[in-house]
This record gives sequence, structure tokens and C-alpha cells, in this order.
Amino acid sequence: MEYIIRVEGLNLHLQGRHILKDISFNVKRGEIFTILGGSGSGKTTITKCLVGLYKPTSGRVEVFGKDLSTLRLLELDEVRRKIGYVFQGAALFDSLRVWENVVFYHLEHDNMKEEELRQKALKYLQMVGLSEEVLDLYPSELSGGMKKRVGIARAIATNPELIIYDEPTSGLDPITSRLIDELIISLRDKTNSTAIVVSHDMVSAFTISDRIMVLKEGQVVQVGSKEEILNSNIPFVREFLKKGLGNFQALSRG
Ligand SMILES: Nc1ncnc2c1ncn2[C@@H]1O[C@H](COP(=O)(O)OP(=O)(O)OP(=O)(O)O)[C@@H](O)[C@H]1O
Ligand SMILES: [Mg+2]
Repeated sequence: MEYIIRVEGLNLHLQGRHILKDISFNVKRGEIFTILGGSGSGKTTITKCLVGLYKPTSGRVEVFGKDLSTLRLLELDEVRRKIGYVFQGAALFDSLRVWENVVFYHLEHDNMKEEELRQKALKYLQMVGLSEEVLDLYPSELSGGMKKRVGIARAIATNPELIIYDEPTSGLDPITSRLIDELIISLRDKTNSTAIVVSHDMVSAFTISDRIMVLKEGQVVQVGSKEEILNSNIPFVREFLKKGLGNFQALSRG
């Protein structure tokens, strides 16, 4: 079994608060692994530990077989280069056009001509279902769903082995959310990458995931396959599922 990520007994204190409590989980190569949990449960913070933005107070975070806390900055950069990060809320640069946002990394690091870069941007925009017409637009001229797609195009433009999506469907209508779900699955299949998806969208989690980790107040409640989570007899998981499904029914009625 090849694991891309191994997290072992991760504890994190921030400003005197114990935010992550003894978190352990593994992610296999090629998996779509979803972190599910309420607001403030520590989902984004876990992803920041995975890219080395926070150093654990104790415990181990291993990515691509490397213990992050032992790496020098250059080695950490090498790990980060293999990870695409789709930020919560897209986080595009408002003053840059769509194509510049998508190839931002290459603008900074490569000596490519503008026309080459635009073509590169177009290739990734097409992979996420957008067309040439958006190339020269600014983020403020895009809909919420289009912004998310541009954020995803930017994350995949460095051909990452691992893509982390933080709330890719939040704030989107159910139809657009399902399109993003399909996109996450098709990108994994086409590029042979691994995906970690942070979500509190139950429908999305059960559509795309191979395995799911449920968090509560910085602690892991359960890690398992969709079936194991659906059939869980842990009260918190059952309650969480019931609420998620309730929201879904309310939305479909609305
Ligand atoms: N830099 C920080 N300093 C202090 N506390 C922090 C910091 N970053 C996050 N926290 C706290 O850690 C907890 C977890 O935050 P986190 O952003 O990981 O939650 P989340 O599960 O992603 O929530 P949401 O679904 O709302 O995005 C929260 O209580 C938050 O206030
Ligand atoms: Mg978050």
C-alpha cells in the first residue's frame, strides 16, 4: 500500500488554544479523501499542516514519504511544488486577469513568453470546463462557480500529484456543486492524482469520496469508507449525517 500522507498523533496549539487533538490518518495514492466537520472543527488547519504552514506542537506529518518537520526550506518547497491548493473562497488576485491567475506560478518562476503562458492557461481552463472567452476577464467579472473553476485551474497548472480542495462547493447552488464534484472526480482520473477535499457538504462527500474522516472540535470521530460512515453507530456521526441530509432535502424542496 502506498501512502501519500501519514499523519500520526498530530497536536497543534495556536495562541494558547489546543486546536488539533491527537489527529491520525493516512491517505493512499489515487484516493479522494474527504475531511468532513462543522465550522471551526479544524479542517482548514489540518490542510495547512499538510503543506507545512503550521508546525505540529507534537506528532508527525509525513507527505510523499517526508517528515515535514525535518525539512529545510528548499526541501519543503519541493514538496509544496507537488501539491495544488484550492483555497477556501477561491482567493484569486483581483488585479490580475484570469489567465495570469491560472499561470501565476509560471509568471513568477519561468521565463515563458506571454503567448505561451496564455496558451498554457487556456489548456487548464478548458480542463475545468471554461473557454477562451474568460482569459482576459478579471475575477470581479466572474460568477462564484466560475471563480471556483479558475481557482482549480490555477491549482492544477503545476501538474500536482496531490490536490487539496478547501470547501470547493461552498456558496454554490446544488447544480453547480454537482458539476464541481464531477470535475474533482474526472481530474483525479485523468491526472492520476490524489485529492483531499475539505467539506461540510454531505451530498458532495458521499458522491466523490473513497474514504471520509469526520472531525469534531479538533478531534477525529471516525475514518472510514462511505459505507462505514453511512452505517456508523457513533451518535455524533449519525446526527451529523441526519442534519446534512435534512439540509439537502430542504434545498431540493426550496
Ligand atoms: N492562526 C490562528 N490562531 C488562532 N486560532 C486559530 C488560527 N487559525 C484557526 N484558528 C482556530 O482554530 C479552529 C479551527 O479553525 P479552522 O479554520 O481549521 O476550521 P474549519 O473546520 O476550517 O472551519 P470552517 O468550516 O468555518 O472553514 C477555530 O476555532 C479557529 O478559530
Ligand atoms: Mg475552513
